[in-house]
Amino acid sequence: MTAPSSAHPISVYEAIRRRRDVRAEFTGDPVPDPVLHRILTAAHQAPSVGNTQPWDFVIIQAPDRLAEFAQHVAERRARFAASLPPQRRETFTPIKIEGIRESGTGIVVTYNPKRGGPNVLGRHTVEDTGLFSAVLAIQNLWLAAVAEGIGIGWVSFYDEGFLARFIGAEAPVRPIAWLCAGPVTQLQETPDLERFGWRARRPVSDAIHREYLR
Ligand SMILES: Cc1cc2nc3c(=O)[nH]c(=O)nc-3n(C[C@H](O)[C@H](O)[C@H](O)COP(=O)(O)O)c2cc1C
Repeated sequence: MTAPSSAHPISVYEAIRRRRDVRAEFTGDPVPDPVLHRILTAAHQAPSVGNTQPWDFVIIQAPDRLAEFAQHVAERRARFAASLPPQRRETFTPIKIEGIRESGTGIVVTYNPKRGGPNVLGRHTVEDTGLFSAVLAIQNLWLAAVAEGIGIGWVSFYDEGFLARFIGAEAPVRPIAWLCAGPVTQLQETPDLERFGWRARRPVSDAIHREYLR
């Protein structure tokens, strides 16, 4: 499917439908700065518990820094592959799990649990709501990127401590995602993990329940 662009706006339902996790379709062109700014502004408009806005975004574009992180991810990928039973390893082998260098831009999203001070309205009962808020910013970013013709690929094959040091984040701030971002040739119709036989989407009817979860 050809990528949309800001010249041809699409509905939010269309953006949700077209969104893919991108690994192999980056063109190698940089994300234009105004587009990057619009996408990050959309992320920053996410809802957050107690209006804490506990996220920050670190943009990484220096080729040597992208290469260093890609090397770390390659090691973690190899470790995961080695942990798999032979048949699963065979299925996993052709699956690309990142486009760190090809995308040209990494966006590390961080979560700061201290933002908002000690009395966060709404987080006093459910601590995780802070983290949920930062993840909502990521989803906003991802959908805005679709509307702009920018692909996003979420990479989680890393040690959190490594990524924290890499971006200079100090506890309790946590890096929670590395997002590859860049213009794409196309967005696949079907998720890669489904196309490569790893795991398929389940029908929405399986996810909807009435009155009780059963
Ligand atoms: C929290 C999170 C972490 C993910 N980590 C990775 C990853 O490390 N490598 C990868 O290739 N895809 C990663 N993905 C993408 C998922 O594999 C992808 O979303 C899923 O297969 C469905 O495909 P779709 O996003 O194209 O619909 C991650 C997605 C999420 C939400």
